[in-house]
Order: sequence, then C-alpha cells, then structure tokens
Amino acid sequence: MRIGVLGTGTVGTTIATKLVELGHEVKMGSRSAGNEKGVEWASGAGEGASEGSFADAASFGEVVFNCTPGAVSVDALRMAGPENLSGKVLIDVSNPLDFSKGMPPTLSVCNDDSVGEQIQREFPDARVVKALNTVNASIMVDPSQVTGSVIFVCGNDDAAKAEVGELLQSFGWPGDDVLDVGDIAGARGTEMYLPLWLRMMGALGTPGFNIAVVR
Ligand SMILES: NC(=O)c1ccc[n+]([C@@H]2O[C@H](COP(=O)([O-])OP(=O)(O)OC[C@H]3O[C@@H](n4cnc5c(N)ncnc54)[C@H](OP(=O)(O)O)[C@@H]3O)[C@@H](O)[C@H]2O)c1
Repeated sequence: MRIGVLGTGTVGTTIATKLVELGHEVKMGSRSAGNEKGVEWASGAGEGASEGSFADAASFGEVVFNCTPGAVSVDALRMAGPENLSGKVLIDVSNPLDFSKGMPPTLSVCNDDSVGEQIQREFPDARVVKALNTVNASIMVDPSQVTGSVIFVCGNDDAAKAEVGELLQSFGWPGDDVLDVGDIAGARGTEMYLPLWLRMMGALGTPGFNIAVVR
C-alpha cells in the first residue's frame, strides 16, 4: 500500500519505519519538504521510503497517519489539504498534551470533545480512526513487549476501523486485543487516559507498559 505519515517525530519515524519493513511505500510529511529529520529518515529507511510536505505525504497515501501534536493536528492537516484526505482512512495517533504550563502537561481538549472529533468535524470526508495513542511508540509496532494487553480503536466508519484492525494485526497486535470502543467520541476516553498513563510511567519508571482488560 502507499501510506502517508504526517510527522517527523518519534512516532512518525517509528510507524513509518515499520510500514517500510512490512513492504509498504511510505512518504513522511513535514511542514516543509526537505525537513532534516524527514530526509534523514527517507535516506536510511530503505526502498519505498520518501519524504515531502504534509500535502505531498497526504496526497501520496491511500491511508494517512496523523503523528503531530494534538493541539496543532488540525492545523497540520489543513496544511495537508482536505482534498488529499477525502475518502481516505486517517489514523489519528495524537494526544492533546499541552506542555505550555510545564509538567505535568494538561489536555488542550477534554471532557466533551477530543482531537479525534475535532479532526473528524474539520475533515468530514476523511474516515478518521483513533488508534495507538495509548502506548509508547516502540510498543505501537512491537506489541510482543506487552503480550495480552489491549489497543483501542474508535471511529464512525466501521469499514475504516476494520482496515485499521488489519494494519494493527500486521504490526503484531492479535485481533482479540484490538478493542473497538465505538464512534469517534470514544477518543475522549483514550485521550483522557493520558494523565493516568503519565502517572503510571512515573510509578513504574518506564514507558514500556500497557494495560490489559480482565473480565
Ligand atoms: N512519543 C510517543 O511515544 C507517543 C505515544 C503515543 C502518542 N503520541 C502522540 O503522537 C504525536 C506525535 O508525537 P511525536 O513525539 O512523535 O512528535 P511531536 O514532536 O509531537 O510532533 C512532531 C511533528 O509535528 C509537527 N509540528 C510541530 N508543531 C507544529 C505546528 N505548530 N503545526 C503543524 N505541525 C507541527 C512537526 O513538523 P516538522 O516536521 O515540520 O517539524 C513534526 O512533523 C503527538 O500527538 C503525541 O502526543 C506520542
């Protein structure tokens, strides 16, 4: 598949690298084509890896990942262009962490809204699926580190969620561990989990953990 990954940070790089390893063609997007991190990634990631602007990556991708800070994700996606997102599965990995008042971060949106919903509202023709935002980047693409734990998906389009489920299985997530928490408003819960995730990281002394559902 051709996949656009918007974001040159740890998450964008980690997901893009995994996708290339799986045989996909991947274009990493940034605010400006020729971004140092994008070029470094594209030159080292092997065949099928390229870089460009957010718009270049979004128009290239049949599927698009949003790996930008949640508080500015709508801005980044506007730069990508609504016409380049229309009809496409848009996997939103972002969290609304606001570090402007120091640590710990607050949430730039919460309670009765979420970044996932903001994106779906702003780009109604995109098929937004929130996923992977509740684990650290390394676990996203190597769930064998946390066998038996859960990964959430939510979104308004069932076929889009099924496609994302298949992609997650190709990353190593067993189908039974992919938990569909409903429409895109489910992103409120997975994003508001972040303050607890941060506390657990502090208590455990590592970001290398995940949660399991026991019933
Ligand atoms: N780190 C993790 O393990 C982890 C785990 C789960 C979820 N997340 C979430 O995943 C997302 C990506 O995290 P990250 O640490 O990989 O990268 P990041 O530093 O949050 O984001 C980097 C990307 O955001 C773009 N960006 C920064 N400011 C922008 C602005 N004002 N407007 C438009 N684009 C802007 C940058 O563009 P340029 O390329 O042009 O610089 C870059 O591509 C975040 O929402 C984070 O909360 C992270």
